[in-house]
Amino acid sequence: MKKGNVLIKNAAELVTCSGFHAKKGHEMNDLHVIPTGAVVIEEGVIKAVGTTEEILKNYQEANYEVIDAAGKAVLPGFVDSHTHFVFGGYRAEEFSWRLRGDSYMEIMERGGGIINSVRATAEATKEELHRAGKKRLDSMLSFGVTTVEGKSGYGLDYDTEIKQLEVMDALDQEHPMDIVKTFLGAHAVPKDYKGREDELIDYIIEKVLPTVAERNLAAFCDIFCEKNVFSVEQSRRLLTKAKEMGMQVKLHADEIVQLGGAELAAELGAVSADHLLQASDQGIADMAKAGVVATLLPCTAFSLREHYARGRYMIDQGCAVALASDLNPGSCFTESIPLVFALATLYMKMSIEEAVTALTINGAAAVGRADKIGSIDVGKQGDIIILEFPSYKYIPYHIAVSTVEKVVKKGVLVFDKEK
Ligand code: NIG
Ligand code: FE
Repeated sequence: MKKGNVLIKNAAELVTCSGFHAKKGHEMNDLHVIPTGAVVIEEGVIKAVGTTEEILKNYQEANYEVIDAAGKAVLPGFVDSHTHFVFGGYRAEEFSWRLRGDSYMEIMERGGGIINSVRATAEATKEELHRAGKKRLDSMLSFGVTTVEGKSGYGLDYDTEIKQLEVMDALDQEHPMDIVKTFLGAHAVPKDYKGREDELIDYIIEKVLPTVAERNLAAFCDIFCEKNVFSVEQSRRLLTKAKEMGMQVKLHADEIVQLGGAELAAELGAVSADHLLQASDQGIADMAKAGVVATLLPCTAFSLREHYARGRYMIDQGCAVALASDLNPGSCFTESIPLVFALATLYMKMSIEEAVTALTINGAAAVGRADKIGSIDVGKQGDIIILEFPSYKYIPYHIAVSTVEKVVKKGVLVFDKEK
């Protein structure tokens, strides 16, 4: 039997999420469920999808590791398309200040926040970052995540930014999880650059971005486009350069103040715009038209006690919405996919089907990989999860508790709750 050969049969629901592009608007409700479904994976790639009866007529069980998913729902692995999972140190103290009433931006303005993690990340060795990153990936895998996007941005200077990206590269090689790397050199403004943000953008463009692009250290370039961080004009300048150097772009947009980040994302043809708590009607219309994925991060809004992004409205306006954890040491220290589901369905008025789409095919689209992952389609990578329950409807229903029993990555069983 070859490595990566698996046959999963008798799935109470085979939730294929079939598709090779982001799903927009009402399409987000189409999950393409096959009752009593089966899927065949050969050498890590999906070979056949259908009812168990059809599949067993054409494929010999003896050639595969067979998983009987009777009474269980089977879905594509989740794609967590926005995280900052490589960082040094923690900011539990800041969390307690926020409970006391300080805001995220107040803490940032008095020198805490992201800069705090920048210091700790600079001090951490590569081995320390690697060890911590690996543990976080293990945890994400247990929630059914099979591909994760990871951002730099706790370096800001050349050495630490490159160090973070190299750590992600190494983890990508050795961990079952696939990692899509994003360069977020423009994540915060260090004290000595306050008031000289344009010079910081120049430094990133001249000194850091060329290495990142040449060494292929990141697929995406991102920026924190926010009042008192980087302006729309500075964001446009950096991201335009990144595109010229062959990278795709994303933005942290309209998170705390309505600046026009959503509009800029549409103008630049960004793959995604993320957060969007304050996105304007115009920005949402522009994103729908330009096909920018709106990546919503409800755990961040929850953790910061902000209003949730207008997920329902965005879908009704024809946007493709993705959901992600935003795991990071400051605004949102959680990798909990079950919590993302609970908040999206209970508070953002998304249907369960839309939430599943947002964490599978649309998450894949948000990292530029909808042609390879995010659905159970022939030719795609064999990244699959098997739930403990017979339907995907149990995911948000079992509030904030993981329903994932097994995870198959490229046709290999890499997580099993029962073992
Ligand atoms: O996505 N908003 C900016 N960046 C992160 C937070 C990073 C941090 O606080 O360390 C976010 O929420
Ligand atoms: Fe973020």
